[in-house]
Amino acid sequence: MVDERSKGTEEADLSSPPLSPSPSPLPSLLSAKALSKNFGGIRVVDRASLDVRQGSITGLIGPNGAGKTTLFNLLSNFIRPNDGEVIFAGEPIQHLQPHQIAQRGLVRTFQVARVLSKLSVMENMLLAAQNQTGENFWNVWLRPGQSVREERHHRERASELLESVGLAHMAQAYAGALSGGQRKLLEMARALMVRPKLILLDEPAAGVNPTLINQICDHIIRWNQEGMTFLVIEHNMDVIMSLCDRVWVLAEGRNLASGTPAEVQHDPKVLEAYLGQ
Ligand SMILES: Nc1ncnc2c1ncn2[C@@H]1O[C@H](COP(=O)(O)OP(=O)(O)OP(=O)(O)O)[C@@H](O)[C@H]1O
Ligand SMILES: [Mg+2]
Repeated sequence: MVDERSKGTEEADLSSPPLSPSPSPLPSLLSAKALSKNFGGIRVVDRASLDVRQGSITGLIGPNGAGKTTLFNLLSNFIRPNDGEVIFAGEPIQHLQPHQIAQRGLVRTFQVARVLSKLSVMENMLLAAQNQTGENFWNVWLRPGQSVREERHHRERASELLESVGLAHMAQAYAGALSGGQRKLLEMARALMVRPKLILLDEPAAGVNPTLINQICDHIIRWNQEGMTFLVIEHNMDVIMSLCDRVWVLAEGRNLASGTPAEVQHDPKVLEAYLGQ
């Protein structure tokens, strides 16, 4: 199930580029450089770096409290780092607001899904398209034909995505009526509305039943083959093993290891970090 395109292109370390020019590595889409974050004097992310290659499905794992979600918040600028830098598609993005980052093609989901409970599932999807594209209010009045066409296009895309995550039958239901797992699926589908370049998924499998987890993995692989890059936080190692080309391991806010899923799974440092929990 692993995407073949990115195999054999990994570097051992951010600071040590490959000596051989061939095979040429895929370009980096997102890189975090020595990010740090303190909460009330406690450093929860400590000079963490990672690199997400264009076209990859990259994993981010680590024990509970390792700082994974905080790192996502730093990457998407939901919180500001005390130190460090984030480069997306070749440009620093720290000066941008989260919605501006989304408009550039970097979107994320939350560990506890954030859906608008009083809107229908379909309305949640349509609103995401509007927010992600920064759709102009005046266009609705000045170019009504274009707006109608766009709305039809968004509805088709929303229906297709809801179908793929098994929520098509709930399209008209209030999002507040969804289970925790279904909310996660809605959030993931919403993130995909405008075909972003990179999607950060925070525990997409948590609270989702095993049959649906397999379906989600298959969809992530399909979306990846269509050109989307993923960075996935997940505790479910089967998901990581079946999806990811490369995995970064965080422990106590610091980089512990990185490599193929098989490499990190057998790394004694990684085993110790998990067992020590
Ligand atoms: N807003 C905050 N204020 C204070 N401490 C925080 C805040 N957010 C996170 N922390 C702390 O930072 C540490 C890292 O939390 P984080 O949620 O990033 O971990 P995680 O790796 O995502 O864990 P999990 O696997 O359980 O989701 C934890 O000790 C957490 O309690
Ligand atoms: Mg987390």
